[in-house]
Amino acid sequence: MKGAELDFSGKVALVTGGSRGIGKGVSLALAERGARVMICGRKEEILRSASRELKELGYEVLAFPANVGKSDQVKALMEYLDKQFGKLDILVNNVGMNILTPSIIDSDEGLWDKVIETNLKGPYLVTKEAVRLIRKAGAGRVINISSIAARKATMGMGIYCIAKAGLEMLTRVLAVELAQERINVNAIAPSMVKTGFSKFFWGNESLLPEITRMVPMGRIAEVEDVVGCVLFLASELSRFVTGETITVDGGSMA
Ligand SMILES: NC(=O)c1ccc[n+]([C@@H]2O[C@H](COP(=O)([O-])OP(=O)(O)OC[C@H]3O[C@@H](n4cnc5c(N)ncnc54)[C@H](OP(=O)(O)O)[C@@H]3O)[C@@H](O)[C@H]2O)c1
Repeated sequence: MKGAELDFSGKVALVTGGSRGIGKGVSLALAERGARVMICGRKEEILRSASRELKELGYEVLAFPANVGKSDQVKALMEYLDKQFGKLDILVNNVGMNILTPSIIDSDEGLWDKVIETNLKGPYLVTKEAVRLIRKAGAGRVINISSIAARKATMGMGIYCIAKAGLEMLTRVLAVELAQERINVNAIAPSMVKTGFSKFFWGNESLLPEITRMVPMGRIAEVEDVVGCVLFLASELSRFVTGETITVDGGSMA
């Protein structure tokens, strides 16, 4: 490999939830390799501070506050992206949220709507709008961040598991629907990653050994473990891969 395959100069990327955690790592990695990057999130202050940090490193990064579950905000985000960059090559649907939920039977409708809206409806709304801009680029990549929870029913995370399973099927359906337009659609399913999202678990000294014991590689994932896979799926190295979900879990599901 000569390295040119991971040069994203001239490409435009949108990373939802790019203000922290995995999304921030992905944004940095794409920007470092030449992409112009747009990030979004709900909390404006954290979002602006993340984009400032990346700009100070010399990268072309823009931020737009938007909740991916709200179609009017997604439309405004895409209008801004279109105005600033005029096209889109790489979409990373990274936003996700998880809260401990009661059993499906005991969960109320509001909880169901909240978790589904962020984890499943959000990527649907964003992709729907983003594809218009990817068409302007002539080809592109959509990368959805799923979770191994999509394939493992987990107590206390039932609605999240269902939403992520839906996201993986959305990935396959879109891959088939968009294949003729040279838009590859893939997903990544990590196990626990060291971010604020799961700190409740890995930050607990008595729980962490229990968690790592279930991972053949003996540790939880770092942001960089997911970033590597995003770069592969965003690049020409994966040009004949579509409709796939790559598991990044140190062997847990094996
Ligand atoms: N960390 C893990 O253990 C783990 C494991 C498997 C899969 N994942 C998946 O990986 C992805 C990223 O997770 P992470 O660990 O990086 O999470 P994180 O550290 O909690 O970051 C989440 C990002 O998404 C943004 N966000 C949340 N809800 C949003 C909404 N409705 N609209 C717009 N932005 C929103 C957050 O910013 P605001 O709060 O300001 O909106 C933040 O930038 C998620 O899809 C998650 O399900 C994570």
